[in-house]
Amino acid sequence: MNLSRDTSIALVHGLLDLLPTGDQVDVAVCPPAVYLHDVGAALRGSHLMLGAQNMHHAAEGAFTGETSGAMLTDLGCRCVILGHSERRQLFGETDACVNTKLLAAISHQLIPIVCVGETLEEREGGTTEQVIATQIRGSLAGLTAEQASTLVIAYEPVWAIGTGKTASPAQAEAVHAQIRTLLNELFGSSVGETLRIQYGGSVKPDNAAELLSQPNIDGALVGGAALKAESFAAIVKAAT
Ligand code: PGA
Repeated sequence: MNLSRDTSIALVHGLLDLLPTGDQVDVAVCPPAVYLHDVGAALRGSHLMLGAQNMHHAAEGAFTGETSGAMLTDLGCRCVILGHSERRQLFGETDACVNTKLLAAISHQLIPIVCVGETLEEREGGTTEQVIATQIRGSLAGLTAEQASTLVIAYEPVWAIGTGKTASPAQAEAVHAQIRTLLNELFGSSVGETLRIQYGGSVKPDNAAELLSQPNIDGALVGGAALKAESFAAIVKAAT
């Protein structure tokens, strides 16, 4: 719930100036739902993809205030973030709820970006591995290997989101490797090895290259540093 309509559009124009071509890194911009139309118009025809921050699982119906997958595709969305830690912590979303949204997103040909991550208490209590495994198994329950092949996973330690604290490259890589092993186990290595696992949590231009150079870190889900075209573009350049 950051920026305005005008500053969101200006952000896209800034990105298009700074990232005129898109042949090496896939880049998506995921504005608040009310700005999807205008941001989508600003990036139409470019290499930038449009994504949403949330959706409802039902195809249509009496769900006042909600947005369906069909509405997102109608606006040109290619992807949708699901189960962000703020959705889980502030809006009560569970793994089961993320799972229903995930299946709906896939049925609308949207790429789901499924977020998982442990809290500080869970990390300090030594349960990170267990928490991540439970979130992955629950959020991805019932998916076929073919459905799973369309996913992006985002590992976002809750203690690193918007706090300025970043997981060290080694800490992040350890969890990414665990997620990869679990995905291989659930869907076979031909799917697990190719799925993108993004890291999120205070990714900035000065730490992006080191994080992204880890073998199992395939991309970044960026919050604060994506609100300015210069820092967003610098992170994309670090990914090349
Ligand atoms: P941050 O946010 O980059 O500001 O930590 C990440 C997120 O909200 O997913």
